[in-house]
Amino acid sequence: MTSRITRRAAAAALAAMAGAPVVARAQLAVAPAQAWDPFPAGFVWGVAASAAQTESRQGRGRSNWDVFAETPGKIRDGSTNALCTQFESRYGEDLGLVSAAGAKAFRFSIAWPRIQPDGAGRWNAAGLDLYDRIVDEMLSVGLEPWPTLFHWDTPVWAGDFRDRAIAQRLADYADVVVARLGDRIGRWILLNEANVVAVNGYLTGSHAPGLHDLVAASAAIHHQNLAQGLMAKAVRARLGDKAQLGSAVSLSPIVPASPSQADEQAAGVFWDVWAGSLLEPMMGRPYPAAPAALMTAFVRSGDSEIMDIRPDFLGVNYYARSYVRAGPPPLGFLPAPPPVGTISTDFFSFEPGGLTEILLRLAARYPKLPLVVTETGFAQRDPRPADGRVEDPTRVAHLSDYIAAARAGIAGGADVRGLFYWAATDNWEWQEGFSKHFGLVALDPQTQARTPKLSLAYFGACARANRVA
Ligand code: FCB
Repeated sequence: MTSRITRRAAAAALAAMAGAPVVARAQLAVAPAQAWDPFPAGFVWGVAASAAQTESRQGRGRSNWDVFAETPGKIRDGSTNALCTQFESRYGEDLGLVSAAGAKAFRFSIAWPRIQPDGAGRWNAAGLDLYDRIVDEMLSVGLEPWPTLFHWDTPVWAGDFRDRAIAQRLADYADVVVARLGDRIGRWILLNEANVVAVNGYLTGSHAPGLHDLVAASAAIHHQNLAQGLMAKAVRARLGDKAQLGSAVSLSPIVPASPSQADEQAAGVFWDVWAGSLLEPMMGRPYPAAPAALMTAFVRSGDSEIMDIRPDFLGVNYYARSYVRAGPPPLGFLPAPPPVGTISTDFFSFEPGGLTEILLRLAARYPKLPLVVTETGFAQRDPRPADGRVEDPTRVAHLSDYIAAARAGIAGGADVRGLFYWAATDNWEWQEGFSKHFGLVALDPQTQARTPKLSLAYFGACARANRVA
């Protein structure tokens, strides 16, 4: 079945799912009076980052992203991830800036290649010490640490997600990290965007390991689901009820290109493959029909019990809607252009209304599952720093609409517990290198100088007021 899809068709079908740049209509499906109400007490206002995008290679083992970044032609601006933002030595400044502005939480990731640089059963004490210090620093400046255990960087020795064995390796790694940091951390994100890993890494080839193979992508989904199950078991065995566990998934409303039955059906299949293949098994339900057909070669008896983690919260990484039309088998869908006249940022389109929609859709499908917006943000071509500041009023305007859209989701009945802006600091944006600027703090990659943007002050003001400022 899988052999009939051409690489081009697959890449085209799935580019939209992976957050390819699209242009869309600005619309906010919300009554302003509710959108500007305060958020519930205890709402978490955070900023987000990941190790592979911010830490240098110093002191860690070789990763799949090192290999990918060194492959000619893979990184748009020709940069490498050798230094990134040197977070491992400059975290004091970064945490200080965002906490002084008013942020209350910091989502970061642990670099697996730093904890286990060169093989199974071998642990790097200096790596564990580093995260110990980072977590202590976060706590001392009033930021709640929100670690992600796996945000894509994989030690080369551990292989990749075509191989089922990686699931247990990830669980062993998670166990060691949690044993060290679990006394100070209450909320853990197990995996980041297993759907983006599978599609970009194994099907369209734009991410490590750069493959173009639907069978491999299907294996990558299933083996990440298994990894997550084994990781959850390890973390709960150590921390019991003290730990709340979640998964961060790339999620957006899937909009059919037309009201035709074929397009509607394609949008349904797209949802099942992109979102259902992760969300259903973690909630103890079977794979929906379309992904189930892709997984038959890998699923073994007992796997559904492992994948059923019943998370304590679901992390929603939302940037823009996805538009879909009917397409050829085996997937049956293709990306469609967004409506004419929509606004684009430098990477995704500007679609705040889609955030409200996805929160409401998830609340309807999984009514008892708390939601956290674990990523949302905008890449822009910012002006150069002047007088110690970067003026980015467009990001401020965009951000205010997205925060209002999250508030509208709450008003509509979604149980949303927090929102993390991607990203704390401009960083190494995977295949885009340093060319995309998402940060609330600007970075000069040559000098490593940081400059706060206007949007940092704005986000902090929202956090302090617990409402759209
Ligand atoms: C998400 C990733 C994150 C960052 C943003 C822009 O898909 O999780 O690391 O690259 O996109």
